[in-house]
Amino acid sequence: MRLRALTTLNFRNLTPDTLELPAGLVSVSGANGAGKTNLLEAAYLVLTGLTEAGRLEQLVARGSGEAYVRADLERQDGVSILEVGLGRGRRVAKVDGVRVRSGALPPGSAVWIRPEDSELILGAPGVRRTFLDALLSRLSQRYAHQLSLYERHLAQRNAALRAMTSRVGEGRAEPWALDVWDAKVVELGTEILSLRRRVLARLTPLAQEAHEALGGHKALTLNLDETTTPEDFHADLLRRRDEELARGVTLSGPHRDDLAMRLDDFPAGDFVSRGEARTIALALRKAELDLLTERYGEPPVLLVDDWTAELDPQRRNFLLGLARALPQALITGTDAVPGAAGCYAAHDGSFSWQGGSA
Ligand SMILES: Nc1ncnc2c1ncn2[C@@H]1O[C@H](COP(=O)(O)OP(=O)(O)OP(=O)(O)O)[C@@H](O)[C@H]1O
Ligand SMILES: [Mg+2]
Repeated sequence: MRLRALTTLNFRNLTPDTLELPAGLVSVSGANGAGKTNLLEAAYLVLTGLTEAGRLEQLVARGSGEAYVRADLERQDGVSILEVGLGRGRRVAKVDGVRVRSGALPPGSAVWIRPEDSELILGAPGVRRTFLDALLSRLSQRYAHQLSLYERHLAQRNAALRAMTSRVGEGRAEPWALDVWDAKVVELGTEILSLRRRVLARLTPLAQEAHEALGGHKALTLNLDETTTPEDFHADLLRRRDEELARGVTLSGPHRDDLAMRLDDFPAGDFVSRGEARTIALALRKAELDLLTERYGEPPVLLVDDWTAELDPQRRNFLLGLARALPQALITGTDAVPGAAGCYAAHDGSFSWQGGSA
């Protein structure tokens, strides 16, 4: 896929403009704080409907009420116009002028590689769960749907647990009332657990292959660290019911699971260097790109933020090699990328065209 043009209006610090983007490798370079990351964030939002921002309001330029982003996206079957409008905590998305749910923007149209990806290895289990859930949701609409239902029922079960917890002391708890929530949570959770296992079986060899190609000499393994299994989920809920009533939360299930990563059989989170963490993260993103390409039949636009951060020359070369093999990649950094098809210089929220680079 190829992003032909990107328009932003009142998006963070970006000066309202339309950037025409060539195919191939596009370099966006400039000083710290120029707006390079913001540009990729706008592209990722309008291409996929996803954002890493904590709150949507952060994306709107300070002092403005609304922001707007538009992408002219070229796919095998033609060009589509994707639009996202943001304002007062609301998000409106359109494809070719027709309003859609933001989940209906093409989920396979971009992969974003960022220095913050190291958190996938160094951060809390929730970061890895979010990675898996986001990837699965992009590969399967059914997963996205079942996950949101699971989260809703889980919240209701937890509320019921807390209500009972407060009544246990008074000797009036009625734990049988949990049975109805258990049935729904088990039904949805079991499917989530099975789908996660299936995707991990496909993700693992792709990530291992990329990790090796990146020069990672240590063996990478990925495993689900599960609090229960599809077979035992119901029994585990019954077994831990007293503990759950005492604590007021659901203690087993996919919402408590982790994606365990090991390097030469040591837990990666505890032992890796910063550069090794980034290398594993890069391997995971490469695997994500492969899975999305396979699912949607053409490669996504690759967005790479800060291409030199924490990477040695071999890893930088891998990243640039990967980018060059794709229909299009937008790559930012304080230094321009060598051999780019087109270069933009970023300055204070504006981008000026510099032509191709040597
Ligand atoms: N909602 C907003 N309104 C106005 N400005 C904002 C908003 N959000 C962020 N900014 C500003 O945008 C500027 C550019 O941020 P950005 O992260 O894109 O820089 P960058 O070019 O990636 O820099 P670096 O090289 O340090 O990564 C920052 O100075 C930030 O304060
Ligand atoms: Mg940045």
